[in-house]
Amino acid sequence: MAKILPIASGKGGVGKTVFTANLGIILASKGEKVVIVDLDLGGSNMHTVLGIKNDMSGIGHFINNKELTFNDIIHETKYKNLHFIPGDALFVGTANLQYFRKKQIIKGLSAIDADWVLLDLGAGTSANTIDFYTISPVGIMIGVPEVTSVLNLYSFLKNAYYRFIFQSFKKGDIIREKLADAANLRLEKDDFRLIEFIRLLKKDFPDKEEALTKATKDFYPKFVLNMGHSKNDINLGENLRMIVHKNLGFDMEYLGILPYEPLIEDCLNNRVPIAEKMTDSKWVTGLLNIAERLINYSEFPQAVFDEEDSKEMIMDDLE
Ligand SMILES: Nc1ncnc2c1ncn2[C@@H]1O[C@H](COP(=O)(O)OP(=O)(O)O)[C@@H](O)[C@H]1O
Ligand SMILES: [Mg+2]
Repeated sequence: MAKILPIASGKGGVGKTVFTANLGIILASKGEKVVIVDLDLGGSNMHTVLGIKNDMSGIGHFINNKELTFNDIIHETKYKNLHFIPGDALFVGTANLQYFRKKQIIKGLSAIDADWVLLDLGAGTSANTIDFYTISPVGIMIGVPEVTSVLNLYSFLKNAYYRFIFQSFKKGDIIREKLADAANLRLEKDDFRLIEFIRLLKKDFPDKEEALTKATKDFYPKFVLNMGHSKNDINLGENLRMIVHKNLGFDMEYLGILPYEPLIEDCLNNRVPIAEKMTDSKWVTGLLNIAERLINYSEFPQAVFDEEDSKEMIMDDLE
């Protein structure tokens, strides 16, 4: 089974797409079989970053054409070992994804035969984005050294973690119901602390303690700081890690810091991914280290697609 790696950020314009494209190229150059998926519905631009013409069927076609199978939208690229599923740039209005089609996309992603499936997600905390992020227990969060980026990233993680735990319990389970109640409560109370709420749930429902502990331990986000300028930026990543640990109660691995790299803009203008040409750029060598770490991450937890539970898996009642 492929390792599904969603890449999210909360805020747009932080380098998710550039990161995902170049990570895919690097992993593929190391002999890993990779599929890059453009899931930024409404804002698809992965093809541009990869330097691929925008004329192939993608997620937008899949959503709109019942005849298409998921395999029909997986395309070869000029890079060995690298395949690509385009987004919906040729369609408008697919951002409002029907539950049924979303389920099929998730099922299709889970069945891809590759080593890595990289999901380039959209900005914000919409239900679609959170659902795609929580397909896999492991995801990469990209931030830049700006207050708004860190705040949006934190808010995304909080929502995703919440949804991840919620999905771990089947419909009718008391914990699931309590979490749904808390979602409504949370809208009214700013100081709602998930870690505290879970502690109380464990106390009130001792027979659910083990399941709750497992659900909360299965969530492994990793963090990359992009466009770093100074040594201070490293502290910013460390602070974020501490706040997440304190308020949300899970550990986020710091995967690395990538510097501000003006050449990225030039490469974009020329439709050439930077990892293909500028192998001595500090940004590219930083990304090489990250790719190595991912390859060496031996106990990558598997995404589990449970056909039965999927009916209930994607719910919009936390919106
Ligand atoms: N490390 C970096 N240094 C300088 N510019 C960057 C860096 N990473 C990304 N960019 C620029 O930021 C812009 C947004 O990148 P993009 O990958 O499209 O962001 P996102 O997908 O998060 O919206 C692009 O114009 C790109 O050139
Ligand atoms: Mg993008």
